[in-house]
Amino acid sequence: MILSIPDVLTAEQVTRCRGLLTGAEWVDGRVTAGHQSALAKNNMQVPEDHPAAREAGDAILAALSRHPLFLSAALPLKVFPPLFNRYAGGQAFGTHVDNAIRQVPGTPHRIRTDMSATLFLCEPHEYEGGELVVEDTYGVHALKLPAGHMALYPATSLHQVRPVTKGARLCSFFWIQSMVRDDADRTLLFDLDSAIQTVGRGQPESSAAIQLTGVYHNLLRRWAEV
Ligand code: NI
Repeated sequence: MILSIPDVLTAEQVTRCRGLLTGAEWVDGRVTAGHQSALAKNNMQVPEDHPAAREAGDAILAALSRHPLFLSAALPLKVFPPLFNRYAGGQAFGTHVDNAIRQVPGTPHRIRTDMSATLFLCEPHEYEGGELVVEDTYGVHALKLPAGHMALYPATSLHQVRPVTKGARLCSFFWIQSMVRDDADRTLLFDLDSAIQTVGRGQPESSAAIQLTGVYHNLLRRWAEV
């Protein structure tokens, strides 16, 4: 499932994040790339332990922890501390797959990257090119979302960032280990949850709403690793 999640950050939060990052130092983005992806990657990043990255990252994690659509779609177990990248002057990231396992910096913890996330911090009119292109079994999808919106997609997907030919593209990117590892299982639960919300909106006490909610939790109990 590839999903666009609107309004993860408010306009004020986007401005605050951009202000923090403007003052930060930027380094070659290959520092966090694996062997194959380093060959395809050409961008700049804020070092993962930089105070600006941590402050902006914490604001994103707090916003995600309250976002019903993200929680329903990702069923997050662990979220990697958000990183920040910038593409300008023709920079791009060619087709690659993200590393399966990531060490959380400064900790002994590792996460399995079930889902990848790209949170846009610029408006689409501020730069040319820079689409996030994700391939799945239904074809090729190009995403260029408004500031504060986030693309969420299976980390198993081949994906790329097209060259930014004018202006600059600033984004946050990170990974999620889901309680439900399998994308198809997670998608079923998301669809079921969405249907329960619709049924329950009219009659939350109806026996159908209660029964469907029971099915949801019993499937989650069957599939979740916590
Ligand atoms: Ni990637």
